[in-house]
Amino acid sequence: MNLAESGEKRAPAAGNVPGRKPLFVVLEGPDASGKTTQLKLLSQELTQRGIPHITTREPGSTQVGEALRRVLLDPKQQIRPLTELLLMVADRHEHVEGVIRPALAAGKWVLCSRYTMSSLAYQGHGRGLDLALIRELNRLATGGLEPDYVFLLDLPPQEAYRRTQMRDRFEGEGLTFFTQVRAGYLELIRNLPRGYLIDATAPPHEICREILARLPLSG
Ligand code: TMP
Repeated sequence: MNLAESGEKRAPAAGNVPGRKPLFVVLEGPDASGKTTQLKLLSQELTQRGIPHITTREPGSTQVGEALRRVLLDPKQQIRPLTELLLMVADRHEHVEGVIRPALAAGKWVLCSRYTMSSLAYQGHGRGLDLALIRELNRLATGGLEPDYVFLLDLPPQEAYRRTQMRDRFEGEGLTFFTQVRAGYLELIRNLPRGYLIDATAPPHEICREILARLPLSG
């Protein structure tokens, strides 16, 4: 998915709750949990309400980020866990500085697929890298920019595994990896204020309604 801008032609911040800053909303979850579908549905809802916003994702979404994504997902690459982490946070720094902060500064909401929690779940719980190190690198990469809301689209590992098509380096990991990532996600979301667990086996429109119900929307 390329960086998609939408809602731009509307009156500035028409649907925003007056006096409230634009929100930074992150969707997390395993591969094939429906994050891209939800970004599209949420974007339609915000557009209908006249809320200026962008949809974006990690890794990718900047020029250097797209190059990093190709390497990171290429099943032919052999990448050490620490290298993988460093490339993810390099991508994140470009994304935060080049896309997310400018959008928020322009008054646009940011709807983002994956952010810092992905590195904690995949490189931390999945690959076994030190969580404190990942937090520190995340802080460095983001300058401390935290999402306002994180929605974890949760799937049982067997279901996540069944849905993947083994197309990329992460999807090619086994069920054990998926199980570790899921356990990590559940722990992380439990400890996050404004973190919400969403059942990703529900129909897409129901999931979208559940997310919308948590967001401070006018009208
Ligand atoms: P996507 O398919 O959801 O766009 O994500 C690509 C893969 O990158 C996905 O399998 C998860 C992985 N990933 C990490 O391992 N760590 C990270 O920090 C991010 C952002 C993604």
